[in-house]
Amino acid sequence: MSNDTRPTLEEIVALCKRRGFVFPTSEIYGGLTSSYDYGPLGSELLKNIKDLWWREFITLRPDMVGLDSQIMLHPETWVASGHVGSFSDPMVEDLETNKRYRADHLIEKWIEERDDYQDFIVEDLSTQEMGQFIVDNKIKSPEGNQLSAPKEFNLLFETSIGAVSGDKSKVYLRGETAQGIFTNFKQVLNSTRVQLPFGIGQLGKSFRNEVTTGQFIFRTLEFEQAEIEYFFDPEQNDWQEIFKDWQEKMMSFVTKTLNVNADNVRWRTHTDKERSFYSKETVDLDYNFPFGWKELWGLAYRTDYDLKQHIKHSGDKLEYVDPHSGKKIVPHVIEPAAGIGRLLLMVLIDAYWVDEANNRTVLKLHPRVAPYKAAVFPLLKNKPELVAKAKEVFANLSMKFSITWDERGNIGKRYLYQDEIGTPICITVDFDSLEDDTITIRNRDTTVQERVKITDLEEYLDNMLN
Ligand code: GAP
Repeated sequence: MSNDTRPTLEEIVALCKRRGFVFPTSEIYGGLTSSYDYGPLGSELLKNIKDLWWREFITLRPDMVGLDSQIMLHPETWVASGHVGSFSDPMVEDLETNKRYRADHLIEKWIEERDDYQDFIVEDLSTQEMGQFIVDNKIKSPEGNQLSAPKEFNLLFETSIGAVSGDKSKVYLRGETAQGIFTNFKQVLNSTRVQLPFGIGQLGKSFRNEVTTGQFIFRTLEFEQAEIEYFFDPEQNDWQEIFKDWQEKMMSFVTKTLNVNADNVRWRTHTDKERSFYSKETVDLDYNFPFGWKELWGLAYRTDYDLKQHIKHSGDKLEYVDPHSGKKIVPHVIEPAAGIGRLLLMVLIDAYWVDEANNRTVLKLHPRVAPYKAAVFPLLKNKPELVAKAKEVFANLSMKFSITWDERGNIGKRYLYQDEIGTPICITVDFDSLEDDTITIRNRDTTVQERVKITDLEEYLDNMLN
């Protein structure tokens, strides 16, 4: 798809709601801020992306293991990681309405509208400098009112364990999945056969008390992360080589596995001011979203900072003992950290295609990614022999593939529905099927139809997925 026919965010939001990918959370009660549920189609798509990530980065790699740690960890974890002290966003308040906004987002929006500021990096500004920038440039709230000076607002969600609330029972919902990897580092070493260099990967929910600016599922309070901590001995391995290798792997996952157009993806290196003080190098893999180039997946060389912090706060020895030399070291880490919701949004935007010649909207998803690999239809729903035969086809294929069933309305309407949800092929059982055990396959992208034997269907789908 060429970039001049790319969809707007409104078109994506409308498709997501119309076809059951993403719904506003608790809509019957008026919704919940920056929160979305994944519907029947979205949950399939989300699962496919997570399965592909797990397969590529854990199952197929001899140097990786998986983990599933808790959402609530010992609260000291977040003191050690620095989240309690400095995991915050700079917030300003509209002095008339008392609504809060992110200072950096308001500045970013102001900059977007001015050509002479295109190379300006908001992340380079301190909180105080943002305040000054707002005053100097007379930036107002979206309602056009005066703004307060920015204040740092911690993003961790707090809750309590047990019946009594207060500091003793206080816990946090995790702000990232990464810390569960560091706190389990020693147990993974003691319980598995891993040797440096190796990585631990985990998929799971994280929570951040974000104030967002209407970017749909791009920035939400609750979201799923796919994070890896790749541990190595800096005396044995060149960090730059490992870093470069991860960049290639991340790019390949996006452009090959998820089949996203490489023109819509780019690398952005963090400036020295923007980068965390413990990180030697941080780059973001950005995607060209309808609201601009934004971070999809971060890659950071975090040195031995996290493990050393946990050693300091827990008093435990989080060391690796080299099985050959007996040397004890605290490994360094390189961290590729992605958000699954952002990958899903990217995949939908990239696959969206308005086929004007055929007057239809199509999601040109790779079959690997598509929620359903095929749809099975009986030509007519009031012919029991057709329905029975189609049900047989459905039962056989659904043992191995995620497929869907439709007998509503006419075939044309069924095709249009499947096109919009990205189903690569539609399989129709008709009167000839009863005679010769063949069916019609209709291709989503070309609309071309072909006759295939029922016994060849499994192979057909297997070929399509590779
Ligand atoms: N452990 C490092 C870490 O968490 P991050 O850049 O804050 O780094 C990693 O988050 C990824 O998680 C981001 O690249 C993004 O894809 C996703 N992410 C972060 N905050 C998010 C939010 N509020 N909503 C959706 N996705 C988010």
